[in-house]
Amino acid sequence: MTEQGSSTKQAIVLVARSAVAAAPIEEMERIRGLVAGFGEVMYAFTEQGEPSLRAVIGSLRARGVESLALVPLLLPAEPAFQAFLSRTIQRWQQESPGPWPAVRIAWQDMSSTAGFSSVLHELVDTACSSGEVRPAERADEGGSIVSALRRRVLVCLGGPCLAAGASVIWGHYRNEEKRLSLRTTGEGAMSAKASCLGPCSLAPVVQVFPEGTFYGGMNEEAVDRIVQQHLIHGAVVGDLAYAPSPTRQRLRERPSKERDASET
Ligand code: FES
Repeated sequence: MTEQGSSTKQAIVLVARSAVAAAPIEEMERIRGLVAGFGEVMYAFTEQGEPSLRAVIGSLRARGVESLALVPLLLPAEPAFQAFLSRTIQRWQQESPGPWPAVRIAWQDMSSTAGFSSVLHELVDTACSSGEVRPAERADEGGSIVSALRRRVLVCLGGPCLAAGASVIWGHYRNEEKRLSLRTTGEGAMSAKASCLGPCSLAPVVQVFPEGTFYGGMNEEAVDRIVQQHLIHGAVVGDLAYAPSPTRQRLRERPSKERDASET
């Protein structure tokens, strides 16, 4: 994780959705520099990309930061994103009791801020004077490899799962997939987003193939257990799994030891 800022009782975190390449991370560093005068400023991603919002908040908690202002960087403004941020923080607070900084979230639409109009004018000028996009020659891509990787992880990003925080689960899984080289570890695993896997009442839902195991009520700790136990060692995580049945199923209560483990 990029080292950002120094110890303080107050911190600002610029929040973006995801970054999978070096360029957007450098961009976040640059944007962070623009507000350096506000004190300790960090940045974080809610989906794929590091540092994740959860990791940044965890490090700030560990340092005893008392006040935390989250500033979503998003256009167009999405009230649902702010609501999702609130719900996700509330979930983390519930899963990891103990001292928390006072968390506040900026709710103002970026496009209605002072100065946005001149920014937009500058962008329009830049677009009008940019080089024209021309049809490209069709590149010879040299074909594709049909993968022999055995496992497939589908992370549901349908409406009910998104409302239950699935984008954070997707981001956490993808970060772990990269960190642990899951494509080349054990029998190899690939991942993909899904629109709806069926059991929406168990949101957020993940399904692991070739067994087709459904996992419900996902959080980051559940992802970590599935990675270690199912993907790397090939064993279904029984207490997180939901077997097919003709009767309706609801989420089961999680044993408290998982919550306890999340605090360490
Ligand atoms: S929306 Fe995720 S299972 Fe239906």
